[in-house]
Amino acid sequence: MNPLEGRSVALGVSGSIACYKAVDLASKLVQLGARVDVMMTEAAMEFVAPLTFAAVTHRPVVESLFDPKSEISIDHVAIAERADAVVIAPATAQTIAKLALGLADDPIGATVLATAAPVIVCPAMDAHMYDNPATQMNVETLASRGFVIAGPAEGRLASGLMGKGRLIETAEMVGHLRLALGRRGSLAGRKVVVSAGGTKEDIDPVRFIGNRSTGKMGYAVAEAAIDLGAETVIVAAPNALQPPVGARVEAVRSALEMRDAVLAESSDADAVVMAAAVADWRPRERSASKLKKGGRSSFSLDLERTPDIIAEVERRGLVKVGFAAESDDVLANARKKIAPKGLDLIAANDVTAPGSGFGSDTNRVTLIDRGGNVEELGVMTKYEVGRRILDRVASLLGCPAARRDAQPPAR
Ligand code: PMT
Repeated sequence: MNPLEGRSVALGVSGSIACYKAVDLASKLVQLGARVDVMMTEAAMEFVAPLTFAAVTHRPVVESLFDPKSEISIDHVAIAERADAVVIAPATAQTIAKLALGLADDPIGATVLATAAPVIVCPAMDAHMYDNPATQMNVETLASRGFVIAGPAEGRLASGLMGKGRLIETAEMVGHLRLALGRRGSLAGRKVVVSAGGTKEDIDPVRFIGNRSTGKMGYAVAEAAIDLGAETVIVAAPNALQPPVGARVEAVRSALEMRDAVLAESSDADAVVMAAAVADWRPRERSASKLKKGGRSSFSLDLERTPDIIAEVERRGLVKVGFAAESDDVLANARKKIAPKGLDLIAANDVTAPGSGFGSDTNRVTLIDRGGNVEELGVMTKYEVGRRILDRVASLLGCPAARRDAQPPAR
């Protein structure tokens, strides 16, 4: 289920102080199961020794087109053909200019010209160099050819200047890679809307009614949707999570705001997965000023029901998935929610079981479909739960299986 397991990544490293971050990227990709072929420019080798990359990738590093020890000197398109994706990180102004011209005088240029795989360019340079019209034009040229331009980030640069030119962080580079690799997934061309987190119903400007949801389950479903190639929208109640690269986030606070966003986004969606914990009740009135204790020993709030969001989503060929957060009679209580909410699938979630429910990285759910068929998933990571749910969604939508080994689409 690991999206990088067994994938072949060609990593082009050009000469910048940010080369040290490329070592971290190479190491992370290997840990995630990828086979990483590193190609270095001469300038890159001034900053980091090829041995460093060889040590983390357990593979020889390509230093030149004519290195007799390298397979590229025998078959100059070998890496290009095997790559599922090419990442250039850091990509200097010089390397970007050469790629824009289509030069093939080094292993990176030759590989990029010969590959049909997606190419992700992660610029890193001084802010003035990045802002220069020549670099801007080269970046635009690459973007117009379908290259993914990831970054640069703003911040402190090696020169001491503050500005745009920092290599993006490893997690973001991995995110761009996953987004590119997912393009051929089983949900390619489909739109998935995922709700995440716990809604907050304001009582006054200080207090609210909330719940324990952190958003981890919903964000994990979104990550899985991206790995399967879906256009992914997260309707997110307040949370502290970093959204996956490629997901669009619609931030909401209350159940009513979540309803509006979910209904708007679902009008052209293929699937809606409601992982959010939505308040069932809201204060009938919200006080504009902070409520005072006023010497009272007790206090009552007048509550009204919130709309059942997922029940309001029209089915019209769209797959509806709900979660049921239960603490007792988990399966029986989950089953009762399928018909009134018009669900195709419900994930019965025992929120009291160890390693399950709110805040944890794992979850224990049982999937129940409209026909009453039951699939117990046991304890697994929330990402794996998301993948299993979306595999069921893909099959309900009649999507073809993932085309992992098929010829990649032209950039
Ligand atoms: O975010 P985490 O910390 O990772 O925790 C994950 C989780 C425990 C919140 C998640 O796995 C989960 O179980 N989510 C559903 C929580 C919930 O609200 O369950 P429910 O049984 O009350 O609601 C059933 C379904 O109807 C849910 O899909 C819910 O999103 C939806 N609903 C509920 C109320 C409402 N007004 N509108 C809805 O659409």
